[in-house]
Amino acid sequence: MSIVVTGATGLFGRHAIEALLGRGVPAGEIIAVGRQIDRIADLGERGVDVRRADYDEPASLTTAFAGGDRLLFVSASEVGRRIPQHRAVVA
Ligand SMILES: NC(=O)c1ccc[n+]([C@@H]2O[C@H](COP(=O)([O-])OP(=O)(O)OC[C@H]3O[C@@H](n4cnc5c(N)ncnc54)[C@H](OP(=O)(O)O)[C@@H]3O)[C@@H](O)[C@H]2O)c1
Repeated sequence: MSIVVTGATGLFGRHAIEALLGRGVPAGEIIAVGRQIDRIADLGERGVDVRRADYDEPASLTTAFAGGDRLLFVSASEVGRRIPQHRAVVA
């Protein structure tokens, strides 16, 4: 089962991924999604599938979520953008 974690470049997403790894979830079953993915290069080196996507670019989400079975959506905090961003992620 593949688990997608958005916001992986931030505090909460990083914490969630470390918790999954710590509980024995294989790195290859975790898809870490964010914009500034250079910040999670270390996760890629540990076998996590690192992918770039932007909540404001729906096509990038489709590509990044491909093959994922479960999604942990860590929302952004940009005022005025939350509803369209959430809609894009859910779609
Ligand atoms: N930290 C906690 O302990 C905690 C606990 C409970 C709930 N939360 C909630 O979790 C959310 C994130 O908190 P955080 O502390 O992790 O904040 P953070 O460190 O600032 O991380 C924000 C994350 O959102 C991503 N992001 C922002 N705009 C984006 C966009 N347009 N498209 C794609 N990704 C985007 C950022 O990606 P880039 O950096 O790559 O741009 C980053 O990964 C907030 O809603 C917060 O209320 C946090």
